[in-house]
Amino acid sequence: MDEKLIFFKCKGCSGTIMAMDAMMCKAPTPDALSVSCAGTEMDLLEEQTADPATQKHVPIVEKAEGGIKVKVGSTAHPMEEEHYIMWIAVQKGRNVMIHYLKPGDAPEAFFPGVDTDVKAFECCNIHNLWVNK
Ligand SMILES: [Fe+2]
Repeated sequence: MDEKLIFFKCKGCSGTIMAMDAMMCKAPTPDALSVSCAGTEMDLLEEQTADPATQKHVPIVEKAEGGIKVKVGSTAHPMEEEHYIMWIAVQKGRNVMIHYLKPGDAPEAFFPGVDTDVKAFECCNIHNLWVNK
């Protein structure tokens, strides 16, 4: 079974964090965890899987030479200063890889040495966390 990854986003600066070993915490559920960023509360990000209106958020995993490519959206997500994909991550078993993005980049990432049977995550600075499964 894959480790459950959970993410939090700051209500102030919009920075995100991944809780390592969150299931080992004594909190009864992840949403009982209390996380703050310089004194500002951070929200637990819910995994969103369906984006029927715009189709710009659900990560799409494709085979590529030597690994996989993860694209954000069947319609490419904007990558502007005000609205962009902050990062894309993939999880395979106990391994996690994260690719950070910035405005102006393509909304995609290459991950070497893995096949398409991964859980893919992406975080939009406005619309938060999306997964492929
Ligand atoms: Fe978005």
